[in-house]
Amino acid sequence: MKSVLSERMTLHLHDIEHRELEPGAAAAVRSLAHDLRHRLGDETHTTTLHDPALLAEIEQCVGELPDSVRDAVRPPATAAGATVVRGLRVEDPEFGPTPRDWRAAAESAHSGSLELDIAMLLLARCAGDPFGWQGQQNGRLVNNIVPAVGHEDEQSGASSSTLLSPHTEDAFHAQRANLLMLVCLRNPDRVATTVSSVRRVELSDEDLAALTTPTVPILPDVSYGTDFDHPAPALPTVWLDETGSATLRYDPAYTPLDDADPMFRSAYARLTAELARVCHAPALAPGEILLVDNDVAVHGRVPFRARYDGTDRWLKRVNIRLPERRRRAQESSENGYGQRVVAPFRASTDRTAERGSTDERGSVEQP
Ligand SMILES: [Fe+2]
Repeated sequence: MKSVLSERMTLHLHDIEHRELEPGAAAAVRSLAHDLRHRLGDETHTTTLHDPALLAEIEQCVGELPDSVRDAVRPPATAAGATVVRGLRVEDPEFGPTPRDWRAAAESAHSGSLELDIAMLLLARCAGDPFGWQGQQNGRLVNNIVPAVGHEDEQSGASSSTLLSPHTEDAFHAQRANLLMLVCLRNPDRVATTVSSVRRVELSDEDLAALTTPTVPILPDVSYGTDFDHPAPALPTVWLDETGSATLRYDPAYTPLDDADPMFRSAYARLTAELARVCHAPALAPGEILLVDNDVAVHGRVPFRARYDGTDRWLKRVNIRLPERRRRAQESSENGYGQRVVAPFRASTDRTAERGSTDERGSVEQP
């Protein structure tokens, strides 16, 4: 019989973690971001955040932040694969009206948005290597997620009135993020983000065997455009890593399930039902950071009615590579449908690793 203690520990492992960024650490992040913006000015940095001077400052200054910042943004520690970090101070007026789309957000003249971008790059650099995608939001290193007119029913972050189905971020690509960092600027209607972990689902051995067999491809989502002319290799949906723990590549909206055999489709449907069963739905409040382990948990968003009056829900997102993570060796041969990462911090992380680290940073599986 299980002891009460072990049951409590099991329950705890399944909960979403909550962490606090202590006030001094939160203030240090905001203050450093403020200083960097003033030192560099706004003009050249706003649109893509690629400016070498900005990136060099971030690289140089990130070590000044207290260790408690790195501790707060480390990858989720429980089987839930997601963590809410509280304590980053934001004031609604500093961001101006919610922009009409990601393009307008990137060109926003409101300094508060740029300052939060810089704060996010600092936080993301504490966690790993922040990166963007050339084909998504102009390769911007911090993406803006706002509802956009005409995209209400799309399976992308610009949608609103439709359920954004649970998915692995950029599941189609071998260089997808290990960790997603989402920060909430405003969310007046308390619209919930959903997260579900593959480490909480229960599957039969038969279903697991089907889902670990490469059967169908995963295609790029609509935010990358729709003009692709690349072979689409079949991928496993679930992969057990070297420790035997399950990882997931899941994006049903972009998976041609009709091409799969009935046994696979049934197993996929049971996985989908299990992910729904174990779903958490935190409604992020301004200043809250959601960390999602993109190898373990899928995320989505409940439907909502967009306001389009400048007060809409507004999140920012950073993709982060964790250099110490290994992925399936077979993924290194995937072509990624021509999509390329913008990864300005990667070379410096790998150089640091070469200078004497004994871990597996810079592994060939994830160049
Ligand atoms: Fe997503």
